[in-house]
Amino acid sequence: MANQLRLPFLSFNHLTIYLILLLSQSPQIFSTCRDFCNNIPINYPFSIDDGCGAPQYRHMLNCSATDLFFLTPSGNYKVQSIDYDKKTMTIFDPSMSTCSILQPHHDFKMSEIQSAIIPPSPDTIFILMNCSIDSPVLNHYKSVCFNFSGHSCDELYGSCTSFKLFHMLSNSTPACCFTGYETVKYMSMDILDCTHYTSVYNSDKLEGVGPLDWLYGMKLSFSVPDTGCERCAKSGGNCGFDVETEMAQCICASTSNSTRDCAGGRESNFAESYRASSFPRLQLLYILALGAISYRIVLR
Ligand SMILES: *[C@@H]1O[C@H](CO)[C@@H](O)[C@H](O)[C@H]1NC(C)=O
Ligand SMILES: *[C@@H]1O[C@H](CO)[C@@H](O)[C@H](O)[C@H]1NC(C)=O
Ligand SMILES: *[C@@H]1O[C@H](CO)[C@@H](O)[C@H](O)[C@H]1NC(C)=O
Ligand SMILES: *[C@@H]1O[C@H](CO)[C@@H](O)[C@H](O)[C@H]1NC(C)=O
Repeated sequence: MANQLRLPFLSFNHLTIYLILLLSQSPQIFSTCRDFCNNIPINYPFSIDDGCGAPQYRHMLNCSATDLFFLTPSGNYKVQSIDYDKKTMTIFDPSMSTCSILQPHHDFKMSEIQSAIIPPSPDTIFILMNCSIDSPVLNHYKSVCFNFSGHSCDELYGSCTSFKLFHMLSNSTPACCFTGYETVKYMSMDILDCTHYTSVYNSDKLEGVGPLDWLYGMKLSFSVPDTGCERCAKSGGNCGFDVETEMAQCICASTSNSTRDCAGGRESNFAESYRASSFPRLQLLYILALGAISYRIVLR
């Protein structure tokens, strides 16, 4: 009687453990590289799945249900578009000030590697606003501010609903500075002593265009590592890398990876050995778990 009751209990455990093991293994076996995040194409060197794209760009993008984000040490920035021909990505800092909203400052910080491989483009300018008279950009570092197509602080403070506040509160024109990424890279907003900033891209096309029509956001210029990705892409694979060693590899469909391309698996194929080894490992775990449960039941 007791045995009959225990038997179904035992089988139920078998099944549960087997399923758990199977589920915990399967995402690795069947994952591929997604090539879209909502409507934004995700191609080399970028990726939204670990092991895809170039290792230098690892963990830089996050795809949520509605948006794609560029992750930096100072926060997550919404990606508006990626142009693979021009090698540019436009992003928007949701907490920066624009013509329509005034928000307290917040530094824009990139990691070392981001500054090196995907820095803001030369036609992205940073506008420091409401700078105190002691600000370095009005004194020792005056030279970092440049003439932005003849645009002035007055024009900026005069035309935007949000920036009008600077005028109203001070009854004068507080200083501003049009500058490049290098300035904000080396000096935080606290050091710069300006209370707000905004950034504008395609600045070379904004001569004679008023602040209401500027393009607010940042354009980043990315470089593509030369790792022989074309060969893999041509053979229908996705360029990726081994998540442990970060060695380049070509991800072919969902079932096989190889070192260079997806042509018939002549190249050394990690995938075969992975599949061959993961199943016995699974069985072994299963048998061990089974053993442990049986042992406990016998002891009772
Ligand atoms: C292929 O490589 C990707 C990325 O490294 C990995 O997630 C996946 O599990 C690999 N697939 C196989 C079948 O080995
Ligand atoms: C990426 O987004 C998901 C939700 O969309 C979130 O749970 C996760 O923490 C994010 N990862 C990073 C590194 O921000
Ligand atoms: C700024 O540049 C414009 C031309 O783009 C020029 O007309 C103007 O005089 C310059 N202003 C200063 C202060 O150099
Ligand atoms: C402008 O800066 C001054 C300090 O220099 C500050 O007291 C003032 O609140 C700032 N204006 C706005 C609108 O934040």
